[in-house]
Amino acid sequence: MTRAVGIAGLGTAVPPKVLTNKEIEKTVDTSDEWITSRTGIKERRIAEDHVSTSDLAFEAAHEALVSTNMKPEEVDLIIVATVSPDMIFPSTACFTQEKLGAHKAAAFDLGAGCSGFIYALAAGSQMIATGLYDNALIIGAEVMSKQLNWKDRNTCILFGDAAGAAVIKPVEEGKGFLSFYLGADGGGADLLSLPGGGTKHPATHETVDKGLHYIQMAGSEVFKFAVRIMGDASLEVLKRAGLSPEEVDLLIPHQANTRIVDAAVKRLGLDKNKVCVNVDRYGNTSAASIPVALYESFEQGRIKPGDNIVMVGFGAGLTWGSTVLRWA
Ligand code: UT7
Repeated sequence: MTRAVGIAGLGTAVPPKVLTNKEIEKTVDTSDEWITSRTGIKERRIAEDHVSTSDLAFEAAHEALVSTNMKPEEVDLIIVATVSPDMIFPSTACFTQEKLGAHKAAAFDLGAGCSGFIYALAAGSQMIATGLYDNALIIGAEVMSKQLNWKDRNTCILFGDAAGAAVIKPVEEGKGFLSFYLGADGGGADLLSLPGGGTKHPATHETVDKGLHYIQMAGSEVFKFAVRIMGDASLEVLKRAGLSPEEVDLLIPHQANTRIVDAAVKRLGLDKNKVCVNVDRYGNTSAASIPVALYESFEQGRIKPGDNIVMVGFGAGLTWGSTVLRWA
């Protein structure tokens, strides 16, 4: 059995605390001008000390369920895409399941860096298409701020905290997810990583002294990869759906850097008003960036039934993922 699967409801959670570039200027050697011109970021949200990733995941998931008129007990599956889990184990999805009271749901985390939400949509939608489940909560949730070295200007200016959630369900044939394209290049694993605390570098005083528990990134290498892959992955997923770039109504790219988004937009030949950009307000929220941008586009009335939406992301791994969604 295969069934068409699409999005039935959306939710988000962004912490109330705003951290502007001007405030960061006071703590590291950077400037609002540098950050704005190199990334497009003006401000980001920072979770309070007591807030963990599953708190944001819960809040976003709860809103998505309310908007779909679903009770937590009806949820079949929860996938949380994250690189900033509450703990190494158990999964953030299990913490989220408990907070929601979604006791029937299977739950697991998925680690594909900033491409995680697209990977999770692919995994969850296949399980519904083939009849294993009838619905799933797909969540991208991150508290990046607790994994950053706030003295490292190469990384601390870029990231922010947020969560976005989608309820996916069977939809009318011809609508929903028309195609997916996922990929990985483990040869680039060292370009973006958090090396400490796992089995390769178990946490010791030494790993902490060396700062291995912080995100490490070779920014310009990741940048070059991103510029190439965002265009490639968008064109490939459109080809798989049998669509041309002219048929795209809205592009929702991973929100990492406006220069990376601009390159993808140019490659596709898209009009700028067909692109969602909110990196100026949230920074790079990793696996949460695409669902938050999708939510905002929907709330702003930019999505109508029948629209062809391309979502595309890249991230640690290295990974990439794209999908064409025809809004039901
Ligand atoms: O979701 C995936 C996550 N990662 C990404 O998306 C990152 C992708 N990469 C990027 O977005 C860009 O590479 C950055 C925004 C990180 C950096 O921009 P860039 O144009 O590639 O700059 P760069 O790394 O080539 O650095 C240029 C200069 C360097 O100084 P020198 O060596 O030329 O003297 C850096 O030290 O800018 C310096 N620099 C800064 N200066 C002021 C790096 N960070 C900062 C900063 N403020 N925050």
